[in-house]
Amino acid sequence: MSIKIAVMTMKGGQAKTTLAINLAARIAKARRDVLLIDSDIQANVTTTFQRDHHCNLANVILGKVSDFEFIQLDRHLSFLPSGGEAMVEASSYLSHTRFKDSLFKNLLSSINHRIVIIDTAPSWSEVSRNILMYVDYVIVPVVTDYLGFSGCDQIMSYIDEFKASMLGQCKAEVLGIAITRSNPRTKLAQTITAGLRERWPDLLFKRMIEESVSIQEAPAFQQNIFDYRKGRTRGAEMYDLLCREIMRRIVQRQKEGQNDY
Ligand SMILES: Nc1ncnc2c1ncn2[C@@H]1O[C@H](COP(=O)(O)OP(=O)(O)OP(=O)(O)O)[C@@H](O)[C@H]1O
Ligand SMILES: [Mg+2]
Repeated sequence: MSIKIAVMTMKGGQAKTTLAINLAARIAKARRDVLLIDSDIQANVTTTFQRDHHCNLANVILGKVSDFEFIQLDRHLSFLPSGGEAMVEASSYLSHTRFKDSLFKNLLSSINHRIVIIDTAPSWSEVSRNILMYVDYVIVPVVTDYLGFSGCDQIMSYIDEFKASMLGQCKAEVLGIAITRSNPRTKLAQTITAGLRERWPDLLFKRMIEESVSIQEAPAFQQNIFDYRKGRTRGAEMYDLLCREIMRRIVQRQKEGQNDY
């Protein structure tokens, strides 16, 4: 059984894609088979790695592929692209099917990678609801500015409301909130961080990602932060610590639940 994780928030520019790519890469480096799925029409993971394929999420939803064929990014890291603009048609199809909230879950049920990580679009849509029905956990990324905080608050409420509306059928839990871009020397970042800690003390990951040039540069070289400059950057160091904390929390949640990691 896979452990499925969505990196999700409706707010744009919170480093969802950056976190999804680097978390997937870090877990794959720990020799666990990981599948990274791009569900965003912007197809930023595809742009980063410059790899595309007919077997993409949109075509899976639209029934245009019979067998999964993943792009191999690394020995333990597979990738399913989104299909870009075809996601519009896929999203519209999802909203018209009878089992519209669980279609995604059924379509992806044969995937058996140890870990599945989904990068999501900055929106709340039929696709988001399907993703919530499919995954076990959600990680909410947040940038430490005022609008970042309110974006975090908003997605936490939407997830709660959606789960309540599904009357126990949606099992997704928020695994944690990750600060993905912060300048901790500023008063604003310190205030927002303290606010996040006070509001969600058990969910906020202790390790945070500071503003870093290497994190911005890595995608321009089609690399994750651990491969970029052989991982000898401050960005790689920070992402390593955050990813380890995330992995420990997955293990802890799995122990509390019934599945093993
Ligand atoms: N810690 C960081 N320091 C500096 N730049 C960063 C950091 N994290 C992410 N970025 C940069 O911020 C920009 C937005 O990041 P990213 O694309 O991951 O966000 P996103 O939430 O996926 O955006 P969207 O909502 O459009 O999907 C990118 O240019 C990325 O390289
Ligand atoms: Mg993105």
